[in-house]
Amino acid sequence: MQFEIIAKCSTTRARVSRMKLAHGITMLPTFMPVATQAALKGLTPQQTEELGLTLILNNTYHLNLRPGTKVLEAAGGAHRFQGWRRNLLTDSGGFQMVSLSSFTKVTEEGVLFASPFTGEPTMLTPEESISIQHSIGADIVMQLDDVVSSLTTGPRVEEAMWRSVRWLDRCIAAHEASGRTDKQNLFAIVQGGLNHELRDKCLEEMIKRKDRIPGYAIGGLSGGEEKDIFWRIIAQCTEKLPVDRPRYSMGIGFAEDLLVCVALGVDMADCVFPTRTARFGVALTFNGPLNLKLSRHAKNFDPIDPTCPCPTCSSGVSRAFLHHIVTHETAAAHAVTQHNVVFQARLMGRARDAILKDSFPQYLRTFFQDYFGDVG
Ligand code: GUN
Ligand code: ZN
Repeated sequence: MQFEIIAKCSTTRARVSRMKLAHGITMLPTFMPVATQAALKGLTPQQTEELGLTLILNNTYHLNLRPGTKVLEAAGGAHRFQGWRRNLLTDSGGFQMVSLSSFTKVTEEGVLFASPFTGEPTMLTPEESISIQHSIGADIVMQLDDVVSSLTTGPRVEEAMWRSVRWLDRCIAAHEASGRTDKQNLFAIVQGGLNHELRDKCLEEMIKRKDRIPGYAIGGLSGGEEKDIFWRIIAQCTEKLPVDRPRYSMGIGFAEDLLVCVALGVDMADCVFPTRTARFGVALTFNGPLNLKLSRHAKNFDPIDPTCPCPTCSSGVSRAFLHHIVTHETAAAHAVTQHNVVFQARLMGRARDAILKDSFPQYLRTFFQDYFGDVG
């Protein structure tokens, strides 16, 4: 990959950079919508491309279950399989340990999952995860990490951190042996919970491997911890991570969190939030989220946001219409998903513009005033 910093904010750690991968250029900071099963829920890959997105996320765990690596390899990878011509990142399956925790067991060898179809135990090792991500062919692949909930305390947090370091070495070895390092870029994932000493140790170990690691993620957050603690961990990581590597904070999607992360020097983030909340009838706007289910929209014939260039707003679809169909027509989920994905892209695009003009702190102020009301 080529990674080039183009502009830096003079008062915060925010930066604009250009990341060139095998499927084109992605300008950072950026938000990556999550297409768990390939394709964003509610949109075709073609629509996603037309919205101007250049990088989306797929999940190794889900694609391995269905359609499986044989189909993906026969297709020539997940790009061809889903008809997606831009960049793709795959998460390793590590996070599913937390999200599906009652069905998993972690050992040094790997993660033991119970198949949701047959109940059969299946082991996902670091080598397996990398091999599946090779079959998928994503431009960015993630190490398998040992993930614990951010609310976990005690020795398990330290164990998971050290295991993530050891698994990183196994992922590096498997990845380098494949000869694919020119097309697929392996990112490390910093763990260590909410403990600053453990984060420091993990950072130290993972930064030692910098020559073999094109990018770094910050994992193990956004699991219900206090905002203040979350920001301090992000700040600690971005302070120490090499400036010449992209930084990706995993599982972050609220607009306010994204902008604080950008201010702290984060370049990439992903979350199911904007697409999931769309399916529940919530449209994101620069004046805060709009719940289209509420009856106050029943006679409002304005679009969600008259300044929004998304297909829903620009063709004049009214809030009243969306309110009318929101609970029972898939067209509503489709229309609001397009809008929310474009909202996230505008939020980050405005951040990049502001950093380029060195007016990022002003953007933060206006954003927070508009989004949460005028709080002074
Ligand atoms: N998604 C959100 N958080 C994490 C994490 O810590 N690890 C992985 N692999 N995926 C995530
Ligand atoms: Zn819109």
